[in-house]
Amino acid sequence: MAGRIPDQFIDELLARTDITDVVASRITLKKTGQNYSALCPFHNEKSPSFSLNPNKQFYYCFGCGAGGNAISFVMEHDHLDFVEAIEVLAKDAGMEVPREQGVPDRYEQNSELLKRLSECATYFQEQLTQSPHKDKARHYLANERGLTGQIAKTYGLGFAPPGWDNLLKKLGTRAEHQEQLLQGGMLVEKKEQAGHYYDRFRDRIMFPIRDSRGRVIAFGGRAFGDEKPKYLNSPETPVFHKNLELYGLYEAKQNTPVLDHIIVVEGYMDVIVLAQYGITNAVATLGTSVNSQHFKKLFKLVDKVTLCFDGDKAGRGAAIRGLEATLPVIQNGKQVRFLFLPEGEDPDSLVRKEGTEGFLNLLDDSSSLAHVLFEHARSLVTLADEEGEAQFTQNAMALIQSIPAEATLRSLLIKQLSEQSGLSSETLTANAPVARHYDHSQPSSYTPQTSDQLHYDDYGYDQMDVGYTPHDYEDAGYTPYPDAGNAPVTGNKSGFGQKGLFKGKKDQGKWQGKWQGKWQSNEREHFAPLSQQPKLGRVAHATLCLLMHPAIAQEIDVPDPLLSGDTPERQAFSRVWRYFVKHPTHNAGHFLYQERNQELLYTIYELLNHPDASTKQKLGNAKQEVLDLVNLQSDALGLNSSIQRLKNRGNDAINNPEAQQELRALMEQLRKKKS
Ligand code: UTP
Ligand code: MN
Repeated sequence: MAGRIPDQFIDELLARTDITDVVASRITLKKTGQNYSALCPFHNEKSPSFSLNPNKQFYYCFGCGAGGNAISFVMEHDHLDFVEAIEVLAKDAGMEVPREQGVPDRYEQNSELLKRLSECATYFQEQLTQSPHKDKARHYLANERGLTGQIAKTYGLGFAPPGWDNLLKKLGTRAEHQEQLLQGGMLVEKKEQAGHYYDRFRDRIMFPIRDSRGRVIAFGGRAFGDEKPKYLNSPETPVFHKNLELYGLYEAKQNTPVLDHIIVVEGYMDVIVLAQYGITNAVATLGTSVNSQHFKKLFKLVDKVTLCFDGDKAGRGAAIRGLEATLPVIQNGKQVRFLFLPEGEDPDSLVRKEGTEGFLNLLDDSSSLAHVLFEHARSLVTLADEEGEAQFTQNAMALIQSIPAEATLRSLLIKQLSEQSGLSSETLTANAPVARHYDHSQPSSYTPQTSDQLHYDDYGYDQMDVGYTPHDYEDAGYTPYPDAGNAPVTGNKSGFGQKGLFKGKKDQGKWQGKWQGKWQSNEREHFAPLSQQPKLGRVAHATLCLLMHPAIAQEIDVPDPLLSGDTPERQAFSRVWRYFVKHPTHNAGHFLYQERNQELLYTIYELLNHPDASTKQKLGNAKQEVLDLVNLQSDALGLNSSIQRLKNRGNDAINNPEAQQELRALMEQLRKKKS
C-alpha cells in the first residue's frame, strides 16, 4: 500500500511552489493591480471572473466559485486526484514525494470509511425486520407515509432503533472501526469522556445518501414525531460534502429509462414519493439551496432541469438563490425552469392529491428562467414611476450580466429587456451595472428566514458547520440588495407564479430620458443599488485582519461566548482565529487549503478579495482592530467587569509574555466558570 504523504511535505511543497507559475503555465493571466485575472478555465465565459492572488497564493472565480491553492488548481485543471497533483507539483519543484510507512493514504482511508458506511446502511435496513421496535418503524413508513416495501427497498430506507449504542456495539467492535465510524459521522464522541462514543442516529427512519456511483456516503435520519431536528443529517466528512451532493441522483439514473430531465425538489420524502408515483427523475438538495456546482453536475447529465419549490416564503427565497446559481453556469442547449407549488404543498403532498398526470401537467406549466428573472428584478424595485423602471432595468441587467457572454440566453434576455424598456440593446449593455455573481457556486445553505426554518441546516452537532451564504452577511452590512425586502414597493409588483410580466410599464419615453440623464449626470449610485460595493461589518474586518496577519491570533485571547458565536460572521471569525492559534506559522493559503466547509471558504474568498483587504497591510493597526472587536463584542454580550479587566490587560499582553501567560490562565478560569 502506498504510504500517506506527510503533511510537512505538503506544506514544504506549497512553500516552494508559486501558484502564479502553476496557473500561468496553463492559462493566460493578465496583471490587474496586485492580482492577476483571467478567463476562468472551469466554466465558459467571455469576460474574466477568475482572479489570482499571488501574495496569498490562492485563486478564486467569481463566476463559478472555483477556488483554492496550487494543489486544487492542478487537480481541477489537469483532472487529477490529490496524490497525482502533488506528484506533478513535486516534479516541477524538483522534490521527491516521501511516503509514511504503514499509514494508508487518504484514498485508502476513504475506501475503509465507505465500507463502514455501507455496513451501517445494511444494519439499518436489517433493523426494519429484526429490531424489537420494528413495528413502529414499519407502521410509520407504510401507514403514516404510505410507502410501498418496494420503494423503501429501492431507496435503501432503514431504521436506527432507540438506544445510545446499538450501532456502536454491532459495528464498532474494533477500535479502528470505531474511529472510522466517528470519522464517517455515525458516532459522536462523549463530551466528558474522550475516546468514548455514542450513536449519532437514534430512534429515526434512516435515508442513506448515495453518491452518483451508488456508494453510501452519509445518512439523513427522520424523527418519528415532532422531535427536533426533524431530519438529522451526517456532518461533513471526508466522503460527504453536502453542497456537492444531490439526494436520489443515483436512483434516478438507475430507474429512469431515458434520463433527459431532472427535477430538483427540497426533501428526501419528495424524491421518494414522486418515484413511487412513477416520477423517478427527481433529486433533492440536502437542506441547502441548489448551487452552481449542482447545476454543473446536472448539466453534465441532462439538458433540462426543473427547480421545484414548496409554496411557502422559504421556497420563494430558495428559488431566487436557484436563479442566481444557474446564471453563471448556464450553457447553450440547457434549459432551466421553475415550478412553484401552491401554498402549503410540497411534491409529496401534491402528487398524492393530483396524481402522476396532474403533477406532470404542473411541470408542463412551469415558469421559464426569463420569467423568473424579470419577476425578481421587478420585485426588487423600491422607487415609484420612472425611477422604479430604471431600477428594474438595472436589476435585470445586473442579473443578465452574470450569464456567460456566449450563451444565447444572454442576448435573448437583453433583447426582451430592450423591447420592454424601449432602450436599445447597446444602451443597455453599455450602461449595465458591473456584473454581479451571486451564488459563487457551492454556498447558499438555506438562510433561515423564520425561526421555524432554523432546522434546515443541521446545527445540532457542529456549530462551525452552519451555512454561510451571501445572505448571511446581511447583518454584517453585506447586503446584496440594500433595500430589498423591506422598502416600500410601488407600482404593481406582481408576485411569483403570476405570468403577466411588465404589467406596470410606465410612460417609457419619460423614464427612459430620466434614466439616461441620471447616467450622464453621474448619479449612478442613486439609481443602481446593485452596483454598490458591499460594506464589511466589524467582525468581517477583524476576520480579514487575522487572515492578513495570522500571527495576531496567538497574541489575542477570545472568550468562549465569542467563539461559540451565533452568527455566521462570528463563526467565520472564530474558525479563522482557532486555526491560526493552532498553526501560527501558516498563512491564509494554508487555511484555504485545509478548510472543507465550502460556504465558509466562499466567505473567506469574498473577504480576501474585498477592496478593504488592502487597508489591512499594517500589522499594528490590524492587531488593534481585532482587539477592539473582541472588546466591543464582549461588551455587547454583557460580560461582567472582570472580563473587561481581562480585555484591558489583553492590550499589553500582546508584547509581554508574562502578562500573556497570566491572561491565558485567567481566561481558562473564566471558561471553566462558564461551562
Ligand atoms: P421539509 O421540512 O420540507 O421536510 O424539509 P419534508 O421533506 O417535507 O419532510 P417530511 O415530509 O416532513 O418528512 C426539506 C428538506 O430539508 C432538510 C432535509 O433534507 C429535508 O428533506 N431538512 C429539513 C433538514 O436537513 N433538517 C430538518 O430538520 C428539516
Ligand atoms: Mn413533506
